[in-house]
Amino acid sequence: MAWWPDGGVWMMMTMTIISFVQAEEPYRFLDFRVTYGKVALFENIPPSRVILINEKIPGPELRLVTNDNLIINVHNDLDEPFLLAWNGLHLKGNSYQDGVYGTTCPIPPGKNYTYAFHVGDQVGSFFYFPSLAVQKAAGGYGAIRILSRPDIPVPFPQPAGDFTLLIGDFYDGNDHKARLDGGRMIPRGYGVVVNGDGNSASNSITVDKGKTYRFRISNVGLQLSLSFKILYHMLKLVEVEGTYTIQSMYTSLDIHVGQSFSVLVTMDQPPKNYSIVVHTRFTEVGSTHVVILNYSSPNSKSSKSGPNREQDDNDIDLSIKQARSIKTNLTASGQRQNAQGSSHYGRVKISRTLILESSAGVVNRKQRYGINGVSFVPADTPLKLAYYFKIKGVYKVGSIPDKPGREGMRLETAVMGVHHKDFIEIVFQNREKIIQTYHLDGHNFWVVG
Ligand SMILES: *[C@@H]1O[C@H](CO)[C@@H](O)[C@H](O)[C@H]1NC(C)=O
Ligand SMILES: *[C@@H]1O[C@H](CO)[C@@H](O)[C@H](O)[C@H]1NC(C)=O
Ligand SMILES: *[C@@H]1O[C@H](CO)[C@@H](O)[C@H](O)[C@H]1NC(C)=O
Ligand SMILES: *[C@@H]1O[C@H](CO)[C@@H](O)[C@H](O)[C@H]1NC(C)=O
Repeated sequence: MAWWPDGGVWMMMTMTIISFVQAEEPYRFLDFRVTYGKVALFENIPPSRVILINEKIPGPELRLVTNDNLIINVHNDLDEPFLLAWNGLHLKGNSYQDGVYGTTCPIPPGKNYTYAFHVGDQVGSFFYFPSLAVQKAAGGYGAIRILSRPDIPVPFPQPAGDFTLLIGDFYDGNDHKARLDGGRMIPRGYGVVVNGDGNSASNSITVDKGKTYRFRISNVGLQLSLSFKILYHMLKLVEVEGTYTIQSMYTSLDIHVGQSFSVLVTMDQPPKNYSIVVHTRFTEVGSTHVVILNYSSPNSKSSKSGPNREQDDNDIDLSIKQARSIKTNLTASGQRQNAQGSSHYGRVKISRTLILESSAGVVNRKQRYGINGVSFVPADTPLKLAYYFKIKGVYKVGSIPDKPGREGMRLETAVMGVHHKDFIEIVFQNREKIIQTYHLDGHNFWVVG
């Protein structure tokens, strides 16, 4: 690092920056322009206001290789603050770029911010999404695909093709924040959108008989779990958010909000069209989206497999059993998240147990959601700046109880304090009638029960 001028505070700050942007590795420069657009996601409802990135929904897919440096200049042309989170990616150096409220400042309307990442040794399927308010319901997301460098072994043969499917629930084009502020809840989902299209059977994927393809599926939706299947075909699960799994076969997979799965599918059926079915789970009224799997073969017969929906939409046990069956392949390549004591879980001394219970309630005539009776209020001063400059009164540490209580809901800029190097057990509890999903950002977590 001979070219850095000697000494001083400036040098120390520069060193922090180069710890996650490494000069020796290739650079990829991108410009993201974030705008509103009117797009008809469904034929039968009027065009909705969506969030576009470079005029598209989904936004551009980031195709990266391990060790790439990514320099991405995000221009916010919305009339509200905008913040991108990088789902599943572990960013080197500093949580400042994670893109969740509290660690990063949102990009103000009309401004831009340049992210500089080093993707490190990660490989696999991820996505980016807007993390503020309910913006995610309107789009602003896109896929991230990180390939291994050619010299790193991948635990399966090179597939004949690699398809990305960003699946999610959709709630019409209304302003969800205004709705919540008016005391109303987010309505029942309107339908399922796949790669920015809500019209079932309007899209097709063309494959060759006998070949094996990789499908990367991410649930980019707001709240609904979705099941994924390809009728008459088996799914071989090979990767979950950057971890190669023990390769097991499934007829369908439940993909919960925020999850990204890779499956290999061999086109081993008689050549005709098959349905790729994405279906809502655990809802009273289900919704289905179909993408046509088009076998290209000279002697294809024009016929279509009908939907087979033998699965019970509310079978939670099956879904939990399936989640438990997914295991890391410890001998495959890929990033190892080697946390303190993680391989001796049973012997780790737990210093604190948090029982976090979600709830919904109306406070000051606004519909709010909370944890242990506290609904978070974003502060005007970014929390990290308040912490750094020791500004008092911006947030409160320790005001969320470690266990749910009986009292109602209050609004607060509440922060939970923990000690460095503590090992904490977190129990999530949901007594509501809808699924709750948590995004645990910036740390490694292990599901233990
Ligand atoms: C904003 O974008 C311009 C180019 O369009 C660039 O020169 C500038 O560095 C960017 N600012 C930030 C804070 O990223
Ligand atoms: C695990 O990865 C290794 C190394 O790539 C591979 O040979 C093996 O087949 C994988 N095992 C399973 C059960 O998927
Ligand atoms: C289906 O595949 C055939 C090739 O067998 C191709 O000609 C056709 O365009 C494909 N149809 C669609 C809708 O992709
Ligand atoms: C499959 O469906 C596409 C339309 O998506 C159609 O063009 C094609 O002819 C169909 N192929 C077969 C074999 O049925």
